[in-house]
Amino acid sequence: VTAHFQQRGDVAVLVPAAGSGVRLGPGAPKALRPLGGVPLLLHAVRRLAAASSVAVIVVAAPPADVAAVRDLLAPATAGLPLIVVPGGAHRQASVAAALAAVPAGPQIVLVHDAARALTPPDLVDSVAAAVRAGADAVIPVLPVVDTIKSVDADETVLATVDRSTLRAVQTPQGFRRDVLAAAHADAVDPHTDDAGLVEKLGVPVLCVPGSERALKITRPFDLVIAEHLLATEPATRTLPS
Ligand code: C5P
Repeated sequence: VTAHFQQRGDVAVLVPAAGSGVRLGPGAPKALRPLGGVPLLLHAVRRLAAASSVAVIVVAAPPADVAAVRDLLAPATAGLPLIVVPGGAHRQASVAAALAAVPAGPQIVLVHDAARALTPPDLVDSVAAAVRAGADAVIPVLPVVDTIKSVDADETVLATVDRSTLRAVQTPQGFRRDVLAAAHADAVDPHTDDAGLVEKLGVPVLCVPGSERALKITRPFDLVIAEHLLATEPATRTLPS
């Protein structure tokens, strides 16, 4: 028998959403680009709000769009508290700004890219559960299917990497709050993910199974895939409107 201790929500989720999205082509900041007529960030926040572990959502928005983002998201959080802060010059600075705005209480913090707009609520809960079960840091991963080679500056192959030891890393990444705070306090160079900072502290990072539906929408082709995923999304939970 598994005891069900959890009340609704012991997790703060940080959402870095301040990127410009140049790789998607010209247009609005990436988090505000439409997918099926709805901004990517709104898709992402609806799915976070539908995860039973989430207690508060903190979004780092493009600085010029903080008020508009608050208005966009406020009706979509299913009554959860929502905090919107201006993001920074790079992803890590945006995460640090969001982390500084987390209210007292939650001891588990997840960091989730707005660009992974269709991430299923179940993945959010499974990452949170692994932290709750005792891991200091947890990342969702997929196996690497392509053969991977390292190359030199002239695009000549240096080596073939053993892909069985490689994992493609997604978000949400989950942390004990004090571990993530220590990692950001210690950070010097910008990293592309938060687990990278935690690794530098020498803290073990646990991998759990990710989801194809958590793909990062980066290039125009990803939007085509995402449109299809949206149309075939399993309706396992009611999303806030
Ligand atoms: O550029 P990339 O796809 O790696 O961005 C990952 C996430 O980090 C996106 O959700 C993007 O909005 C966010 N980001 C941010 N602040 C920046 C740059 C990126 O919040 N200055």
